[in-house]
Amino acid sequence: MGHHADPLDDVRTGPAPDGDSLSDTTFHAFVAELHGEIVGAAGMHVGNRRRSRVGDVGLSVHDLWTGQGIGRALMQALLDVADNYLGLKRLELEVVTDNEAAIQLYESLGFKREGIKRSSMFRGGVFVDTLMMGRVRDD
Ligand SMILES: CC(C)(COP(=O)(O)OP(=O)(O)OC[C@H]1O[C@@H](n2cnc3c(N)ncnc32)[C@H](O)[C@@H]1OP(=O)(O)O)[C@@H](O)C(=O)NCCC(=O)NCCS
Repeated sequence: MGHHADPLDDVRTGPAPDGDSLSDTTFHAFVAELHGEIVGAAGMHVGNRRRSRVGDVGLSVHDLWTGQGIGRALMQALLDVADNYLGLKRLELEVVTDNEAAIQLYESLGFKREGIKRSSMFRGGVFVDTLMMGRVRDD
């Protein structure tokens, strides 16, 4: 980790600047900021009507800052909103099947593997499969 002994000490996670995450009922976004730069972001879309208790989440961390706890901190911020402010029943996400780091992180936070979508993404000139993962409250 070099001179960045514990970057999480300096990372702030909070609602993305363009929105009051608790009053917008459909989209909740968090960013991780380090020394004035955004180094990661996480977002959650909440469904409506029969999907109003389901959140669809996404996460990314800047390549230079992966593996240092930022992704986990962002995801935990989203889970806190989902569990303790919105009372969502289910969170779901999709991840490319070869992304071991992301899958490990999601499993450690209670997401389970649910199924594979074949050729569901076009990346670098090839079609890749994605894994659907879900976290059901009180599973
Ligand atoms: C996947 C990603 C979001 C994880 O964020 P991160 O900040 O690197 O993750 P963290 O440092 O918080 O690590 C959390 C967990 O992820 C897993 N993890 C992280 N890096 C890993 C690696 N190189 N290999 C295996 N597991 C890894 C571990 O389970 C880790 O938990 P631990 O530290 O308790 O062991 C980030 O690496 C990323 O943005 N990658 C590129 C884009 C991407 O893949 N986005 C997700 C698409 S769904």
